[in-house]
Amino acid sequence: MTNPLFGPNKLKLGLFGLNVDQACAITTIDGLFHPEWATIKRITQRADAAGFEALVPVARWRGFGGKTNFNGTCLETFTWAAGVGGATERTSVFSTSHVPTIHPIVAAKQATTIDHITGGRFALNVVCGWFAPEMEMFGRTIMEHDERYAYATEWLTILKQLWTSEEEFDYTGRYFKIQKGFHQPKPIQRPFPPIMNAGGSAIGRHFAAKHCDMIFVHVKGEDVEAARKDVAEVRDLARKQYGRDIQVWANCYCVIAGTDREAFEFRDWYVNEKGDWEAVNNLVKILGMQAGVLPKEMLEAAKYKYIAGWGGYPLVGAADRIATDLGKLSAVGLDGVLLSWARYEEGLGRFITDVMPRLEQAGLRGRA
Ligand SMILES: Cc1cc2nc3c(=O)[nH]c(=O)nc-3n(C[C@H](O)[C@H](O)[C@H](O)COP(=O)(O)O)c2cc1C
Repeated sequence: MTNPLFGPNKLKLGLFGLNVDQACAITTIDGLFHPEWATIKRITQRADAAGFEALVPVARWRGFGGKTNFNGTCLETFTWAAGVGGATERTSVFSTSHVPTIHPIVAAKQATTIDHITGGRFALNVVCGWFAPEMEMFGRTIMEHDERYAYATEWLTILKQLWTSEEEFDYTGRYFKIQKGFHQPKPIQRPFPPIMNAGGSAIGRHFAAKHCDMIFVHVKGEDVEAARKDVAEVRDLARKQYGRDIQVWANCYCVIAGTDREAFEFRDWYVNEKGDWEAVNNLVKILGMQAGVLPKEMLEAAKYKYIAGWGGYPLVGAADRIATDLGKLSAVGLDGVLLSWARYEEGLGRFITDVMPRLEQAGLRGRA
């Protein structure tokens, strides 16, 4: 097995958003992440040496407006993965692919190429696209929600056939026609690299359970226990309906400081005082989360979470508290978490020196 996603650590760790401006924090403070290659290389190499299992970029083509045009400046994900793959030695390097933006023959070839560059450490996050203005840039109307998954199913079926079929094959579906499909070399990982999907809807979950190796659950509110049922349900869906074992991960954001209080105050400051509220208003509108649809307090809480870290589960406090919270996430059945920080490099550094040893002591991870 060449991919650390299948390695022995009980709680796997990944970094999220190291190709998009500001990564996951919709704020205007100094010290944010910017996708400059020297920075990306430094951060990803540091994570690689510290034993992180996954580096997951965000597929994005335009920003969300506001003062910062949040995420608007960004690097393309396959080429990013090729570069990061060449600069690292152990971690799994993901590309995130919006299926409507790329033909499956091209995506399969790019994925195989990166799998060879990395010696079998590539993984693919399949996303359907939900940000209409971004999809419209490609000159097409965004598909209706469930149809996106029908399209993704054909797209992924073709990828898997290209990766595994030793014979040329024809394919005729609703969206694609492949004549004498041919693909050599095959990926290093057999039968093919791990596939992730983070769909949250019922149809998205079925798609992930049936076709993917890694799925995400949204840990709602601050109650970790509430996620236990959700994690078990997703796992059961894959096992019972599709006879498959999948990994279940969650997206978290991290704010680490010397004391819990300092961390909470810092987060309140970068969200309430320094947040890019115009950008987050645009985002929640696109997501269909408007006043009237949601009660006012729920909408405000959602905006707060998006600004703090793209709506992820909050890991906020001093190192002890963060390690304890990660232990709780593991105890409810999660296999891994994606992390990001507003001041990314500084936060990651503190996490590696202060939290990682605590995770080792707790038996959640071995020494890097
Ligand atoms: C960890 C994570 C990563 C995601 N990455 C992207 C991405 O890079 N680009 C994107 O457009 N959507 C991304 N999404 C959105 C999901 O693919 C999905 O569309 C969303 O969660 C809504 O689910 P649904 O499609 O089932 O309604 C991500 C979601 C999560 C939780």
